[in-house]
Amino acid sequence: METTTEKADKTLGSVGILTGGGDCPGLNAVIGVVVRKMAKAGKKVLGFLDGWKGIIDGRFMELTIENTSEIVPLGGTIIGTSRTNPYKKPEESIAKLKEVWNSNELEALIAVGGDDTLKVAHRLHEEEGLNIVAVPKTIDNDISGTDFTFGFDTAVNNAVAAIDKVRTTAHSHHRVFVVEVMGRHAGWIATYAGLAAGADVILVPEKEINLEEVCETLKRNREHSQHNYNIVVAAEGAVFKKGDYVTQQAELDEFGNVMLGGIAEQLSRVIEKHTGFETRNVVLGHLQRGGVPSAFDRVLGIRYGACAAQLVLDGEFGKMVALRGNQIVVVDIAEGVAKTKTVDADLLKTTEEFFQIP
Ligand code: F6P
Repeated sequence: METTTEKADKTLGSVGILTGGGDCPGLNAVIGVVVRKMAKAGKKVLGFLDGWKGIIDGRFMELTIENTSEIVPLGGTIIGTSRTNPYKKPEESIAKLKEVWNSNELEALIAVGGDDTLKVAHRLHEEEGLNIVAVPKTIDNDISGTDFTFGFDTAVNNAVAAIDKVRTTAHSHHRVFVVEVMGRHAGWIATYAGLAAGADVILVPEKEINLEEVCETLKRNREHSQHNYNIVVAAEGAVFKKGDYVTQQAELDEFGNVMLGGIAEQLSRVIEKHTGFETRNVVLGHLQRGGVPSAFDRVLGIRYGACAAQLVLDGEFGKMVALRGNQIVVVDIAEGVAKTKTVDADLLKTTEEFFQIP
């Protein structure tokens, strides 16, 4: 597909779209439907490349029905993404972004992203008065104001498929396997994947790890059931009880997020030591985010994209599309970025009850 840094044809009104933060299955479904709705309304769509970086540098591709007609089943994002934060160097980046906005006579921008991207969208709308509509995405499912973000369902399915494979080798060798899944501040993937795959223990950032309890559960589960192997699912952001162990080193990305990884390895060492069970670990990493989107994520992406495009056409800005129950609703972006949506207490309780064999 061709990209351009030149100015767009101004005979039609132009609407921009960008995808920011970690990629996520379902992004192309959003892009596909936005292009269709805008084409019907006689508007051009400029896909800014690589998140906020594209609109700062004036790099975009024109998105047409022709070049987006087959993208719904594709994983990732055809317009690329990055973790570029325009507020890292605001004097320079915000001015450039506004220059690109004005020179292309953008009527509006649809920003598709997680927490960080939505915070930028919110500031640009509030402080610069830019016409922005937000679409929440993340495999982490940790955006407030919405029950689910697309990408989460695919990530959970990918994790479950992987854990099902781990199970057969764990079984054969009578080993403990610690499976590390994504989730920096919220344990949604760990909880759903762990429940669906029948883990012995699920560890999430919402609750500090109690090593003694973990080891006791593993032993008890072996004693009281027919299987003599164990599966532990740990979110990458799970932490040991204060003072117990030092967890991951703190490398930060442009938004100041800690780049995690390593809890599975540490856990497997201490579990082996304390239980005497041979233990291995596997980090699922970006395999969770890769590949084709599930049907649920494709449909949610299409529903979000259609609603976001309608908000642009209606001149409703500063809004975020969301899912409540089975309904697509509209909330202020402020609600989406207000706080991290962590796993609720009820679900955590169910998880604990389900796994504790009496
Ligand atoms: O934001 C989604 C996410 O997949 C997190 O779960 C994970 O911690 C992070 O992105 C990984 O980021 P990167 O792709 O930059 O390594």
